[in-house]
Amino acid sequence: MHTSNILFSKDLISPKVQAALPKGYSIRPLANDDYERGFLDVLSVLTVIGDISKAQFLERFHYLKAHNHEYFTLVIVSPEDRIVGAGTIFVERKFIRNTGLVGHIEDIAVDKNQQGKKLGLRIIEALKYIGAQTGCYKVILDCSKQNIPFYEKCGFTQKEYEMAWYC
Ligand code: ACO
Repeated sequence: MHTSNILFSKDLISPKVQAALPKGYSIRPLANDDYERGFLDVLSVLTVIGDISKAQFLERFHYLKAHNHEYFTLVIVSPEDRIVGAGTIFVERKFIRNTGLVGHIEDIAVDKNQQGKKLGLRIIEALKYIGAQTGCYKVILDCSKQNIPFYEKCGFTQKEYEMAWYC
């Protein structure tokens, strides 16, 4: 895959995570033709996606690519060349902690028919690797109560409470 088609450098994909995937599966940065591989269908396990056109997908893709020191969306591709998992880490630049960086994990999704194969775990491991490689001092996320055991298996511990305000 040509580098101009992918969101960020493949050097940020953990070789250990790639090696641990089931045979025929691969993990890589989001690509500009993943719309056709079912990227948005995978995200639909999370929430309402809306009727997103290819042009809208590309507009967002190009924005993220122009900011690819901050936004890292990766995907798992099946042997059939379909997107079966996805996740994002957003790297926030702070003043505190000596101008420290914090990684925020967002939008983790595994296709319903592919859940339970450790793909979710591999996505989180790959995002933690990006967080460490980019110099984050911590990586955090919000999740539902039912997903707490999954994130504990991924090495996270419960801290604080989430607050939300909808515009
Ligand atoms: N409760 C308890 N344990 C769980 C759960 C759960 N809900 N989900 C996974 N696990 C365990 C597995 O049994 C496995 O344990 P093991 O190592 O002892 O065998 C371990 O966690 C790893 O599980 P995976 O096979 O990697 O999980 P999967 O590939 O199914 O992905 C995920 C988990 C991402 C939660 C998936 O089920 C999914 O997409 N769910 C719907 C969307 C969702 O809730 N996404 C997370 C939103 S939060 C966020 O995005 C920050």
